[in-house]
Amino acid sequence: MTYEVRPVRPEEHRLAWDLGSLAFGYHEQAIPDGWAASAPGRTTLGVFDEAGRLVAKAVDREQGQWFGGRVVPVSGVAGVAVAAEQRGRGLGRLVLTSLLSGARERGAALSSLFDTTPLPYRALGWEEIGTLTYHTVAARVLAEIRPDPKITLRPATEADIPAVYELYRRVARAGTGLMERSGTLFAAATPAKLLAEYHGFTVALDGAGDLVGYASWDRGPGYDASGKLTVDDLIGATPEATRTLLAMLGGWASVAPTIVLRLGAEDPVWSLLARVDAKVASAQPWMLRVVDAPAAIAARGWPRHLSGAADLSLTDDVCPWHQGDYRFVVDGGEARLEPGGTGAIRLTPRGLAAWYAGAASPDQLRRTGFLTGGDPASDDLLRTATAGPTPTLHDYF
Ligand SMILES: CC(C)(COP(=O)(O)OP(=O)(O)OC[C@H]1O[C@@H](n2cnc3c(N)ncnc32)[C@H](O)[C@@H]1OP(=O)(O)O)[C@@H](O)C(=O)NCCC(=O)NCCS
Repeated sequence: MTYEVRPVRPEEHRLAWDLGSLAFGYHEQAIPDGWAASAPGRTTLGVFDEAGRLVAKAVDREQGQWFGGRVVPVSGVAGVAVAAEQRGRGLGRLVLTSLLSGARERGAALSSLFDTTPLPYRALGWEEIGTLTYHTVAARVLAEIRPDPKITLRPATEADIPAVYELYRRVARAGTGLMERSGTLFAAATPAKLLAEYHGFTVALDGAGDLVGYASWDRGPGYDASGKLTVDDLIGATPEATRTLLAMLGGWASVAPTIVLRLGAEDPVWSLLARVDAKVASAQPWMLRVVDAPAAIAARGWPRHLSGAADLSLTDDVCPWHQGDYRFVVDGGEARLEPGGTGAIRLTPRGLAAWYAGAASPDQLRRTGFLTGGDPASDDLLRTATAGPTPTLHDYF
């Protein structure tokens, strides 16, 4: 059997809907009016058999994610599905390998995805580096937090949204892996639409009237024990703002006793919340792959006060274009991969992804089998180079 791999054409969008909806269990819904498998910033790649049937598909999303204070171009992979009868025969590998090649051609340096199972993606070089986690907290626990008298809360207006985005970006810039919420995929998210997505969008203002925090939240039904408030973003630029937003959530205790909060592992909210009071409500793992190593190394930010070099050898049969030996040179906040070197430190694709994101130290990678070679000095350099906040991604796709 020979297969054709190419973007799904507009007249074939129905095939993509059928394959995806059956795989992910929304097949009883009608296809929404105007639904399109591909749109600006989002391309569905299909695998067609000789009879013209769509037997596999995957979506390449053009997005940016923050690493070391810079936005790196990423291929966000979504909607990966193979027809039930054809699974386990290499079509997943075929569509994902083609997607990676196309993503590299359009300039993506990395690829990320939320996996329902890591196994097929691990076989192709992605590695799990984080989870998108919602935590359940009893509202009465938050009711013990007092609002700060200097902070005013009010519902957001459209005019607040640029400052909301700027505050989010400030947090994303200091983090590892957070989504850049701009570009083609976010063009439709106008302030009005963003506000319409939530039941409540609260902003926190300081004494000077500057926006210093916000929370976006949904109020679930009912006012008995099942009442629930789900908070997507809660960002405070100051301790007073964070405290006051949490106190606002505590104010729901009598009618919505459960608060569900999306939080990263190192969120300042944890300074006001005892971990014992928060249970994981849901945790969606996400994975990273390096698509173009020299481009990925050049694109991210590096510690300004670190300089050094290490000899890396990359093996990668899925993205063969970046296989080979390189001298990794880091200096003054920049780094590059220069072809050559001794190849002393060998990294597998999964090892490269985990190291790049600072999700694993060289010692961990060596014990996992993702890194071989190197010595204590190169371990120090590599560990320090990508050390940073725990990889976090709050935007599910
Ligand atoms: C997940 C899915 C896309 C994989 O596609 P596939 O065609 O079955 O996968 P392939 O046969 O190409 O396998 C690709 C690699 O992953 C490995 N793999 C795939 N499924 C696996 C499994 N369940 N357990 C272990 N390894 C697995 C294969 O061994 C293969 O590695 P190899 O080429 O080194 O041997 C497909 O099974 C599917 O559509 N599942 C339902 C929808 C879904 O879960 N989508 C993923 C959403 S994140």
